Amino acid sequence: MRISHAFIERNSIVLLVLALLTVAIGGIVEIVPLFTIETTVEHVKGVRPYSPLELRGRDIYIREGCYLCHSQQIRTLRDEVARYGHYSLAAESMYDHPFQWGSKRIGPDLARVGGKYSDAWMYAHLEHPRRLVPESLMPNYAFLADAPLERRDLLARMRTNIDVGVPYTASDLAQAEADLRAQDDPGADHAALEQRYHGAHVVPGNGHPTELDALVAYLQVLGTMVHFSDVTTEQVQQ
Ligand code: HEC
Repeated sequence: MRISHAFIERNSIVLLVLALLTVAIGGIVEIVPLFTIETTVEHVKGVRPYSPLELRGRDIYIREGCYLCHSQQIRTLRDEVARYGHYSLAAESMYDHPFQWGSKRIGPDLARVGGKYSDAWMYAHLEHPRRLVPESLMPNYAFLADAPLERRDLLARMRTNIDVGVPYTASDLAQAEADLRAQDDPGADHAALEQRYHGAHVVPGNGHPTELDALVAYLQVLGTMVHFSDVTTEQVQQ
């Protein structure tokens, strides 16, 4: 028997079942292929796991709730790209657990803040934002400079990241403490640190990092891992 259009439209249950069936087919076509590929995040050259000091700085960023005022996601809109730089790629936060895209911008986006300011500016600004930006709404974080960085749980934190897919190796774990101290000491030998964590930014400490040192190391690496030199602004804006 041929089911007429009028029959379907007059019987809400039949209409509902057929509508669900149609939507389900669309869903299956979209979702099933995702099971057959290993990851939906395209790998991008340069993206690496955080160094131990950066990782701890990131923990402090989360603990202090910086994400409540700052996003870390540059959208593909012309004005955002003009203001902040190349739009964010999924791969740039592939080792962020949880990611820090945020949803509020009381302050500016921080996805590419690394290298935008000198270390001296970063320290001074985090300690007393209004000394540099008189109209700033940002709280003072001077107390972080007096707080020695807790390191006892460093390996546990790295292992937890391994559990969720960050590829730290056994030697990364073995050298974690040494890497952490080297990144906080401009006078130290940085060859091993650089080899493991390319482009790690050494902060002006003394090998005994404070929470502020860790936070600055983290901020200074944001957005610096991928080099977009071969992608022009015109291409981005099209
Ligand atoms: C109450 C909201 C608020 C919180 C919380 C906050 N900020 Fe800010 N932040 C701002 C505002 C507003 C600005 C812009 C004015 C200025 O530069 O101080 C800013 C600016 C910045 C800048 C300079 C960005 C640029 O491109 O010029 C950095 C870096 C920064 N914040 C880092 C942090 C970090 C790290 C934390 C957490 C420890 C934090 N902020 C917490 C509001 C906030």
